[in-house]
Amino acid sequence: SSCIALRGDMLSFRGDPFVDGLEACLHYQQDALVLLRDGRIDAVGPATELQPQLPAGTPVEHYPHALITAGFVDTHVHYPQLPILGARGLPLLDWLERYTFPAEQAYADLDHTRAMARLYLTENLRNGITSAAVFCTVHPQSVDALFEIAQGLDMRLVAGKVLMDRHAPPALCDTAQSGYDDSAALIARWHGQGRLGYAITPRFAPSSTPEQLEAAGTLWREHPDCFVQSHLSENLAEIAWVRELFPDARDYLDVYDRFGLLGPRAIYAHGIHLCEREYGRCHDSDTALAHCPTSNLFLGSGLFDLTAAKRAERPVRVGLGTDLGAGTSFSMLRTMDEAGKVAQLRDAPLSPAHALYLATRGGAHALHLDDRIGSIAPGMEADLAVLDLRATPLMAARMQHVDSLDEALAVLMTLGDDRVVRATWIAGVKRHDRDHGEPVTRRI
Ligand code: GUN
Ligand code: FE
Repeated sequence: SSCIALRGDMLSFRGDPFVDGLEACLHYQQDALVLLRDGRIDAVGPATELQPQLPAGTPVEHYPHALITAGFVDTHVHYPQLPILGARGLPLLDWLERYTFPAEQAYADLDHTRAMARLYLTENLRNGITSAAVFCTVHPQSVDALFEIAQGLDMRLVAGKVLMDRHAPPALCDTAQSGYDDSAALIARWHGQGRLGYAITPRFAPSSTPEQLEAAGTLWREHPDCFVQSHLSENLAEIAWVRELFPDARDYLDVYDRFGLLGPRAIYAHGIHLCEREYGRCHDSDTALAHCPTSNLFLGSGLFDLTAAKRAERPVRVGLGTDLGAGTSFSMLRTMDEAGKVAQLRDAPLSPAHALYLATRGGAHALHLDDRIGSIAPGMEADLAVLDLRATPLMAARMQHVDSLDEALAVLMTLGDDRVVRATWIAGVKRHDRDHGEPVTRRI
């Protein structure tokens, strides 16, 4: 068996601090030893106690002035949209027409598809993102390309082919039948292979006919351990359009509900403009929301109401999403910071620790994977990020004036980005080392 230990200050979450309070959930250990064995976390404890007990010859990676955390979980992202990052100035529906649909047509080309999948996964590693729920394009090969590389990295990745049979260019449209068939074939090929999971992926209600949403629901019933991902209630014009297209539905969420698309492992991006009934239904059905603050600010979509989503009587599972390419940063630290700013505008400050929860265990919880990833505890899969608290001269200077963990986290999320990520471990293997080793792209 292969064993390796990481030594440094360790921070992890045990439950949901929005529900159980931070005290009960925060697990912080200065000078900890995290022992990895065969891709899992074997033991965690004070280094002074544990290190003398290690089998002779166990390598120990020492990380001074750093935080060892669970790897980040990005609960909503579109890898095919990397070429339109920063395409400015339009609201959602115009942005889709003007930038997104043209860019996604390029994924008919396999070389482009593979290049973008490689770039995407490389950037994930550079940013300490160890798991994600990923939209591909309508082309089945866009899933194959991503999963092939992710499998080589042993990464816990959830992804799916976009289902879209109306209100998009013909070159990007499937049909209810072909979308079902292609998705079923991808499930057979990829779902449950190693750490990969398939997500049935209707783009959003306006771009699927009722027949296609029906087929998506049928497919999920046939493969209930798969995931479902889509978009929900992001933009006011979009919501009005959904009301026109589905006049019988009570609200936006109800469209998906009617086709059997709510439940555990269903994750919906945005959910900005939800009514009380919709929050309640998300809670009751165990449906999760992906909060994508950089995207919501970039497209002017609105301010996610985290307080409403987390209301104590009916808390909803919430993770953070980069939502690239409407999102503006690969960094979950930047995303945490923007979530904090959105919370300020909602008059409900978000503590840095709560933000870190959302970016790690919260995302794992949203995906119903928190028994495997998202925290550092014995038996969990060994997906870790090592965050350098002195990554830049400015951060190093600022950290000298810090006198609490909370303040250190605040500085980390205010000033930090990919430069902070000193190392990224996937299933017990170091896949990114900021300061040593060849570029990751050479290895994947
Ligand atoms: N709604 C439907 N498709 C998309 C997309 O690609 N990005 C975002 N942000 N919202 C969407
Ligand atoms: Fe999105």
